[in-house]
Amino acid sequence: MKATSDARVNTTRPALAARLAALEARDTLRFAMCGSVDDGKSTLLGRLLAESGMVPEDRLAQMVRDSKVHGTQNGRPDYSLLLDGLEAEREQGITIDVAWRYFGTDKRAFIVADCPGHAQYTRNMASGASTAELGIVLVDAHAGVLTQTRRHAAILALFGLRRVLFAVNKLDLIGYDEARYHAIEHECRELARGLGIEHADAIPVSAINADNLVVRSPRTPWYGGKPLLEYLETVPVERRLDAAFTLPVQWVNRPDHSFRGYAGTVAGGRVAPGDEIVVLPSGQRSRVARVVGGDHDLDAAAAGQAVTLTLADQIDVARGDVIADPARPPQVAAQFACHLLWLDDAPLLPGRRYLLKLATQVIGAQVTEIKHRIDPDTQAHLAATRLGANEIAYCNLSLDADIAFRPYREDRRLGGFILIDRETNATVGCGTLDFGLRRDTNVHWQELDVDRAARAKIKGQTPRCLWFTGLSGAGKSTIANLVERRLLAAGFHTILLDGDNVRHGLNRDLGFTDADRVENIRRVAEVAKLMLDAGLIVLVSFISPFRAERDMARDLIGEGGFMEVFVDAPLEVCEARDVKGLYAKARAGKIANFTGIGSPYEAPEAPEIHLHSDQESAADSAARVVRLLAS
Ligand code: ADX
Repeated sequence: MKATSDARVNTTRPALAARLAALEARDTLRFAMCGSVDDGKSTLLGRLLAESGMVPEDRLAQMVRDSKVHGTQNGRPDYSLLLDGLEAEREQGITIDVAWRYFGTDKRAFIVADCPGHAQYTRNMASGASTAELGIVLVDAHAGVLTQTRRHAAILALFGLRRVLFAVNKLDLIGYDEARYHAIEHECRELARGLGIEHADAIPVSAINADNLVVRSPRTPWYGGKPLLEYLETVPVERRLDAAFTLPVQWVNRPDHSFRGYAGTVAGGRVAPGDEIVVLPSGQRSRVARVVGGDHDLDAAAAGQAVTLTLADQIDVARGDVIADPARPPQVAAQFACHLLWLDDAPLLPGRRYLLKLATQVIGAQVTEIKHRIDPDTQAHLAATRLGANEIAYCNLSLDADIAFRPYREDRRLGGFILIDRETNATVGCGTLDFGLRRDTNVHWQELDVDRAARAKIKGQTPRCLWFTGLSGAGKSTIANLVERRLLAAGFHTILLDGDNVRHGLNRDLGFTDADRVENIRRVAEVAKLMLDAGLIVLVSFISPFRAERDMARDLIGEGGFMEVFVDAPLEVCEARDVKGLYAKARAGKIANFTGIGSPYEAPEAPEIHLHSDQESAADSAARVVRLLAS
C-alpha cells in the first residue's frame, strides 16, 4: 500500500511536486473578519477566493447560475455564494463555538473566523478574536466609521489582537475619492491607537469591482500599498513559541486500580516522561511517568496534542486542575481585575452568582465591582452599576476558590473565560483576566475551637434559616414575627432579620434597583450565615424577589439548614391591604421599581413551604411553619 503511493508521488510532474512541497512548507495565518451584513463581508471573501484562482471553474459557473436565482446582486454574480461551498468547521475559541473557514494560496494557508457583525453574534466575534493572529474590520466607505466599527475594533482589542487591518470597502460608492478614503483611514488609525492596538493598517477596496483585492487597482492610483491578498500572504505573524508547559485536566481516566491518568489537551509548551510537574491550584509536585497518546506511549507531546499523563506519585488531581512546568507555573488566585464583555439581554448585576469557565475549570463567580464601563464611541470610562448586552467594562471578579490562570496578554488559554448563567446554562459573558488581586492571599481562614455545633449544643437546638419571601404586604413579617414568638416561648434562641429594619442600618446605602437588591440579599445571606454559626434559628424576612439570589443564599447556608418559606398572596390582595400606603404611591408614579409594579417578583419554584396568606390566618401559617421546623 505504502509502496504504491510512494511510486505515485515519484511519477508526479516535477512542477507539481515542487508546488506540493511548497504547499507543505507554507505557514498559516488565522484571522478574524468582522463586519455587518451590509458591509459586504461575504462578498469580499468570496471575491478574494474567485480572483485568486482558488475556486474551480465549475464552481464559479455554478455561482454565476445561482446568482440569477437567489443572489443578492440583481442577477449579477453574487460572490458571497462561493462561501457556501467553503469548508466550515466548528472549533472552540474561548469555549464558544465559532465557524472557521479554510483556504490558501501557494504562499500561505488561511483560517478565517467569519464573524457576523450583528449584536447577537458578538459572542462569535469574541470567540474568533480570542484565537486569531490578525483582525480585519470591514468599514463601509460610504457610511464611514460607525459605532459598530468601533465596537468591532474594541472587541478585537479586548481579545488581544495586536494587529488590525481596516478593509475600507465600497470605494466605488464614493467615486474612489482619495480625500474621503484618507479621512476614514485616519479615523481608523486613531481608533486603533485609542484601543491600544499596536499595528493598524488600512486598504481601500471594492469587493464588487475587485479593486485592490489581488492586484492593485488602476482606479486608486493614489494608493501605494499592497492589495489585500498580498497583504494577507506577507503580514508578519507574531507567535509566542517559548510557552511553558501547561495541561488543563479535562478528565481523570481511571479504568481500573492499576491506571490513573490525567487527560487533556496540551495548552502550551511540551511535555515528556521524566519532566517535573506541579499541579495547580493545589501546588503538589510530581514527575511525569508516561505520556500516552491514543493507545500508545509517546516520547513527548506538544501544544495542541490530546494526551493522557500518568504521574510518578499518587497525588490528588481533579478535573479542572492545571498540570504545569514548575519552573514557569501559572499563577493562582481567587480574585481578579478583568475586562468583561456582557452578552446577555438580562443585565449583569454585581453580586449575582454565575459560573466561570476558564480552560477546564468551572467555578462559582461573581462580579464584585464594575470599575467602569467603556463608551464604544469615545472610549471614555463611565460609571455603571449594571451592564447591558454588548457592553464592555473593567471589573473585579471574585471566585469561590482559587484557580490557576495567567494574564490574558501572556496566555490566551489560561486568561480567557466565559460566564454562564446557573439556571439556563447559557453563556452570558466573556472576558479576559488582567491580573490577580492579592486581597485574599494574606487573609487566612482562622480555625476556631468553638464552632457552630458547640454553640448550638448549649442552646439545645439545631440552627436553621427560615427564609421568608414574597411581595410587600403578603404578610412575611407578620408571620415571621408570630413564628419567632412561638419559638421563643418554647425556649429556642432566635433572631429575626427584617428587610425594612436591616435597611435602616447595615443596608442603609442600598435602594431598590436590581443591582441594589442583589447586594441587599447578598449581605443579609452572609449575616444569616454568621447568625447560624452563632447557633441561632434565623428568620429572614425580605421580599428577595430574584430566584438567583435566593438560590445563592441556599448555597451559602447549605441545603438542610435553609428553608424557603413562600408567603404567597395575589398582587391585588397585597395592593388592597396596602398597609404602608406604598402601593398607592407606586401606582401614582411616586415610587420607581416597586416590586410587582415596576419591578418583577420571581416566585419560588420549589419552596420548603408554601403559605397562602389570602386563604389562611397568619396564626395558622405560623403554626404550620413551626411544625415543619419541628419535623
Ligand atoms: S428586597 O427586594 O431588596 O428584598 P426588602 O425586603 O429589603 O426588599 O425591602 C422591602 C421593603 O422596602 C418593603 O417592605 C417596603 O416597605 C419598602 N420599599 C420601599 N421602596 C420599595 C420598592 N421600590 N420595592 C419594594 N419595596 C420597597
